[in-house]
Amino acid sequence: MIDLDLIYEMLDPRARSGRPKSDERMWSQARRLAGRLAAALLAEGRQVVAEGNFAGDQSLAEFERELPGDARLRLIMLEVDFEVALERTQADASRGLSKDPVFLSTHHGRFSPQWREREVLQLDTGALSLAEATDAATAWLTAARVGPVPQRAWRGQLGSARLRADVTLHFPTRAERTGRQPHIASLQAQTWPEFMYHDAVLDRLFGRVVAEYPEFLFYAWDDEREEVVGVGHAIPAAWDGVSASLPDGGVDAVVEARFADAVPAPTALCALQILIAPEYRGQGLSRRMIERMAEIGRDHGLDTLVAPVRPTLKHRYPLTPIERYLSWRRPDGTHLDPWLRTHERLGAEIAKIAPESMRVSGTVAEWEKWTELALPESGTYVVPGALVPIEIDRDRDEGAYVEPNVWMVHSPPQANEP
Ligand SMILES: CC(C)(COP(=O)(O)OP(=O)(O)OC[C@H]1O[C@@H](n2cnc3c(N)ncnc32)[C@H](O)[C@@H]1OP(=O)(O)O)[C@@H](O)C(=O)NCCC(=O)NCCS
Repeated sequence: MIDLDLIYEMLDPRARSGRPKSDERMWSQARRLAGRLAAALLAEGRQVVAEGNFAGDQSLAEFERELPGDARLRLIMLEVDFEVALERTQADASRGLSKDPVFLSTHHGRFSPQWREREVLQLDTGALSLAEATDAATAWLTAARVGPVPQRAWRGQLGSARLRADVTLHFPTRAERTGRQPHIASLQAQTWPEFMYHDAVLDRLFGRVVAEYPEFLFYAWDDEREEVVGVGHAIPAAWDGVSASLPDGGVDAVVEARFADAVPAPTALCALQILIAPEYRGQGLSRRMIERMAEIGRDHGLDTLVAPVRPTLKHRYPLTPIERYLSWRRPDGTHLDPWLRTHERLGAEIAKIAPESMRVSGTVAEWEKWTELALPESGTYVVPGALVPIEIDRDRDEGAYVEPNVWMVHSPPQANEP
């Protein structure tokens, strides 16, 4: 039995002490080595089981290239619903990044096998017990040795993407497209700096946002690729329409309020995140994503879209107070920050600053791991990807990051607008 994770850890021993296993080149190398190891074992007349992520033609090819030409490869895909996957990773002390619901929800949908013309057995491990899944796999492998095997061809496409004509992009909600959806591989890359996956409120509740509000989660679905190329998250919120009453606590506050004991009736939709695959960025897709989010709100009687916007270039100016950063405009009068600019161009107005939109706390050791920086004394540190510096207190063994966002309000279209 070859464990791909173990090979990765052999290549990068720091992964054993908690460094995220997020280096795609290292995974490629691990898959090639796994293939060579399998070839050596096959040469000794053994059967080999290799376990790990071989989803995607390319990943599989990295492994398979190393095998002898007469090796017969059979694939077993273990599937599970997002909700069950989250429950399992959170109960598993050995899990790192995959415990995080924000990361997991993107990561989960992306597992589209894209194995073409292969012998594949698909097992839903949410519905089957461990014993049943094992029995099914054993029976299938035994049958495969003696007779014809069930064939399943997977459709999938590799290669670089370009933004296609409107007809090939659709924006269905998760409630409309239930179940696991294939995601373009690049959406798997860690989008946010590691520390952003440790916001305590989102850690606790983002899984519920995905599971309980599927009608407000939507995809940018490319019909031609048959893959998700962008994702939008939003959640209903109660807001009285007064700028000042938008919470200082931004994202955290809105999510927490939605799952509190007494939840007031929602009056607005609150954006949480829009994420677009790198190949599809810079082509105007974000505008359509924001418009679609607002439309989904209106479909549910929530005519106003509010957004605690994370300005995308603020991390380049971590020492500039957010109030000043907001005032930076280009010669044409539009915001210097592209994400604020995009919202503003769609008619949104800045309502106020959310000074504490996301909070991340950890021990000094955790912060050193997340930021890959030594933090030898108490004080303020600029860390990559953070919109403002972090504060480290060595005496109390804690570090804190409090991220400011900007509340923007997209008012309902007027009657004479389309
Ligand atoms: C932020 C994001 C959603 C924008 O989507 P996008 O489709 O690339 O954006 P668009 O092509 O619609 O461009 C929007 C504006 O940003 C500008 N822009 C795009 N990429 C840029 C870059 N790398 N640097 C500076 N400006 C950029 C565009 O020029 C455009 O402004 P303009 O029309 O005034 O010129 C996308 O980059 C993304 O998913 N990023 C990672 C996740 C994230 O930061 N999400 C937002 C916070 S939740």
